[in-house]
This record gives sequence, structure tokens and C-alpha cells, in this order.
Amino acid sequence: MSNRTIVLASRNKKKTQEVADLLATIGFTVVPVTDFPDVPEVEEDGDTFATNAAKKATEVALALNQWVIGEDSGLRVDALKGAPGIYSARFAGPGATDELNNAKLISELASVPPEKRGAGYVSSVALSNPAGEIKVAAEGTCRGRILAEASGSGGFGYDPYFLIPEYHRTFGSLSPLVKRKLSHRARAFAQFLPLLQKIAEEF
Ligand code: IMP
Repeated sequence: MSNRTIVLASRNKKKTQEVADLLATIGFTVVPVTDFPDVPEVEEDGDTFATNAAKKATEVALALNQWVIGEDSGLRVDALKGAPGIYSARFAGPGATDELNNAKLISELASVPPEKRGAGYVSSVALSNPAGEIKVAAEGTCRGRILAEASGSGGFGYDPYFLIPEYHRTFGSLSPLVKRKLSHRARAFAQFLPLLQKIAEEF
């Protein structure tokens, strides 16, 4: 591996693109774990975003004997006591689509008034060395509100329903450039990238 290429332990294409865009700002190229068909899927059985991010990073790093980034993220909705949280990708069941997850979210919030629809995205990121040791970890959050109706088709997951109050727009309708500055992932990587850059001298 060149010291400017790094594996991302994610099978989510849109998330991978966002991470690739963030890493490109410091001249890194992301290789998705899907480029290595022999690497087994990581079971996300931790009870926090940070545990799952670390688990993804270490298991894939050990399988490939390479430096690997793991990222685990999700949506915590105040009125649902923090759900779907770490279960965001499978809120509507194993292998659920974004559409099914969104439909479940909107139905569970049907009777909740606008002022009580606060929510926060969380992104946890971890870097493992080839020996499976976590060398850097960071977390970012982004507050917003869940709309009753979708607006825009940008981003992924819950983005068309996630309103950024300061912009009066959802992540589904804001440009990717704005999401790259404001999102939970942007905030996690703002802490993570300088540390990655420093450690990359060891790669
Ligand atoms: P993970 O890939 O296991 O970390 O699951 C992430 C899930 O959280 C996604 O499938 C989405 O449901 C949700 N999620 C995380 N980040 C975002 C985002 O930036 N926009 C919308 N949904 C997100």
C-alpha cells in the first residue's frame, strides 16, 4: 500500500463516497473493502458507534494486514429516546432499504409535533494498524430536525427528512459541499484527518 491509499471498512457506496471526498482534501485515496471479496462481513454487535467503528477497522485490518479506517454512524431521534441509533441501517429490519427505514421513522413520529422532532446524526471513526490496534478515534455530531415530508434526493439514508434549521433545508436538498462542511461525518473527520496525516508517516 502506498502511504496515500487507505482501505475503508464500509459496504455503503454513498457513505464511502463521502469519506473519499473528505480524505481527498488531504490527498488520500480510499479503497473500499468491497474491492477485497474474500474479506468477511463484520458483525456490528457493539453497543456504541465507537465500538462498532473500532470493530470494523480492526477486523478488516487483520484480514488484510493493512491500515484500515472504520466508520459507524446513525441517527438518534429525541422523541424515540435515541432510536434508531446504532440500528439506523437496519431500523426496518435486516437488509432494509433507505426507503423502508424512512417510512418507519416517519410513521413512528406521526403524532410528534414539529418542536419535538429534534434529532442528531453521529459519526464515529477509527483507524486500525495492520496488527488490529486502534491508533486514532474521533466522533462528530450534527443536530437537526425530522420533517414529516421528504425534501430533496441528495445524500443518503435519512437525509431527505433531516432539516438543518440554520439553512431551512434538508441534507437531501443542500449541496454535497455544504454537507461536507457541516455533517457529523465532516466533524468527525475534521478531528481525525490531522491525526491520520501524522500517523501516515509510519505507513
Ligand atoms: P453503518 O453503515 O452501519 O454505519 O450505518 C449507517 C446508517 O446510518 C445508514 O444506513 C443511514 O441509515 C444512517 N446514516 C449515517 N450517516 C448518514 C448520513 O450522513 N445521512 C443519512 N443517513 C445516515
